[in-house]
Amino acid sequence: MSGRSLRIASIPGDGTGPEVTAEAMKVLAAVSKLDGFAYEVETLDWGGDRYLRSGELIPEGGLELLRTKSAIFLGAIGHPEVAPGILEKGLLLELRFKLDQYINLRPVKLLPGVETPLAGRGPADIDFVVVRENTEDLYCGVGGFLKKGTPDEVAVQQAIYTRKGCERCIRWAFDFTRKRNSPKKTLTLVAKTNVLTFGHDLWWRTFQEVAKEYPDVKTDYNHVDACCMWMVKNPDAYDVIVTTNMFGDIITDLAGILQGGMGVAAGGNLNPDPGGVSMFEPMGGSAPKYKGTNQINPVAAINAMAMLLEHTGQPASAAKIDRAVAQVTGTKMKSQAAGKMGYGTREIGDFVVAALDSASH
Ligand code: IPM
Ligand code: MN
Repeated sequence: MSGRSLRIASIPGDGTGPEVTAEAMKVLAAVSKLDGFAYEVETLDWGGDRYLRSGELIPEGGLELLRTKSAIFLGAIGHPEVAPGILEKGLLLELRFKLDQYINLRPVKLLPGVETPLAGRGPADIDFVVVRENTEDLYCGVGGFLKKGTPDEVAVQQAIYTRKGCERCIRWAFDFTRKRNSPKKTLTLVAKTNVLTFGHDLWWRTFQEVAKEYPDVKTDYNHVDACCMWMVKNPDAYDVIVTTNMFGDIITDLAGILQGGMGVAAGGNLNPDPGGVSMFEPMGGSAPKYKGTNQINPVAAINAMAMLLEHTGQPASAAKIDRAVAQVTGTKMKSQAAGKMGYGTREIGDFVVAALDSASH
């Protein structure tokens, strides 16, 4: 973070990324006017189109530029003409790793009016948070091929876990659970200690040790497979989950659909250290087939903007956006699915802006 005002780097990215980013920016402009804070946005054209044009993913000096910002807003990446993995690894994961955004924070909250596939469940039942480690595990890119392309081919892909990496994530999750202060006040470790007897043993031991510093926080443990079952059967039992990078990726898609899907789910890639720069994103992809059709749900992007404000010193404005969004999902929208919302992308953004006023009182 640097300077007095909020300095945002915006990477609208590919597909429908720019459309949902525009709505999030509209809401930011409105709430900053209401609450009287200043901000600047620098828009960066990183993504599939730029890559196809120039072969560049993160241009020279790009990381240094981002390090001067208060936060990054990312619309979506993923381009139908770019092979899978190139943009994901070269841009999204590169930013998470190089900026050491070691927490992936994914709130799972069912908003009023939003449909969940879980029968008989409502907003009171689905309100938990997944804290996913974001820099280690199978995501490190450690491994290789032997005799590639032959019948004797061997592929090795290793999961890396470090004491430092799991401890800083677990400690952050305990602090977060303490601050969240829900009546459950419970942090659940999700791992697979019965099979991953080295890497997840490290996680287990670290979790037990750090827990001693937080006697006010209850602890629990689920194997990841059981977690998938419990999340569907008893989502109301969860408060905060802390987990590894790969398992966190998988269970947050399951959690995402419980809260109404990719149209509403948002996340933050946090570097909570002093001077760290965090990045906020709607969880959905670039949905290229909807590009330019004004049909995609901007609520996830608007929720990501609220998270950005919460983590850059404007928690009251973030809460105001949350209330405005809940009012819009609760009263205006037919569905959260692209093309079925009852209104277009821009109209939903306008509704949220209009609702900010009443959310102020
Ligand atoms: C996510 C995505 C990414 C991940 C992909 C796009 C690399 O699925 O943010 O969950 O696996 O982390
Ligand atoms: Mn994912």
